[in-house]
Amino acid sequence: MKRLGALIDDSLKGCFDALELETVKRALCTELLGVSALSFYTKESLPDDSERDARLFDALDRLKKGEPLQYVIGWAPFCGLQFKVDKRVLIPRPETAELVEWVARDCPDSGSLLDVGTGSGCIAVTLAHNLKGCKVQGWDISDDALQVARFNNSLNGTDVVFSKVDILKVPEQEYCFDVIVSNPPYVMESEKAQMESTVLDYEPHLALFVQDNDPLLYYRAVAELGRRALKTGGSLYFEINPLKAQAMETLLIEAGYHDVELRSDIFGKQRMIKAIL
Ligand SMILES: C[S@@+](CC[C@H](N)C(=O)[O-])C[C@H]1O[C@@H](n2cnc3c(N)ncnc32)[C@H](O)[C@@H]1O
Repeated sequence: MKRLGALIDDSLKGCFDALELETVKRALCTELLGVSALSFYTKESLPDDSERDARLFDALDRLKKGEPLQYVIGWAPFCGLQFKVDKRVLIPRPETAELVEWVARDCPDSGSLLDVGTGSGCIAVTLAHNLKGCKVQGWDISDDALQVARFNNSLNGTDVVFSKVDILKVPEQEYCFDVIVSNPPYVMESEKAQMESTVLDYEPHLALFVQDNDPLLYYRAVAELGRRALKTGGSLYFEINPLKAQAMETLLIEAGYHDVELRSDIFGKQRMIKAIL
């Protein structure tokens, strides 16, 4: 085989900028091929290995077509943990890690916490991993997503209980949580035009989109659930669409919450909100 670095460079020329290409090369070497990232700086070719070469060519082909790196290698790092990801779940985002840090700082170690729209389980599993005494549940409407979340639960040695629940039709039963956190679908259909094809063509639309005529549908449902499922003084945390930050503040106050606090993400966008019942 040609020298690894040169082969990847040639195949992905024009697909990534220089910095992204470095990241892709390192990930392909270490995560996919199981060889040191140093391999692409060395002059020698790697020993022949047809199975490894087939994996690499398949990965390069998928990357060239625009598939996200995380799906190609099958993993995404999140808050220091590793999560299996594929087209059944959204790839965990850095802004979501900021939400998780906020919750982890505030949440009582021995509390109970619900993550609504859990997807890969990145929020629920990370919080369970960091708040050892906390009982964590994760809900999602998608069986596919729940399979991935359960895999990530075992992978990271956590004890989250995952259930199939539609947030728009929550069963009438008693719940009692200290914290509810949610990153529900919040991208409006009208925003599709500005989105990258790597997201639109590969990530699950069920995880991303909400109708323009009711963009806060899921937030209203979670806030309503919180009114009967949170202890008095319990907290609700959301990742939000920055275009809807003020509307979210109003929604939470009108739903009976107080001490509503908006926070910006590292990109300076109003991306998170917390409220107390
Ligand atoms: C934006 S993704 C968030 C995934 C993950 N929590 C994260 O932060 O990366 C939203 C999730 O909500 C789930 N979802 C969509 N509609 C739902 C509904 N009606 N009830 C429960 N979950 C829903 C999707 O399947 C998806 O996993």
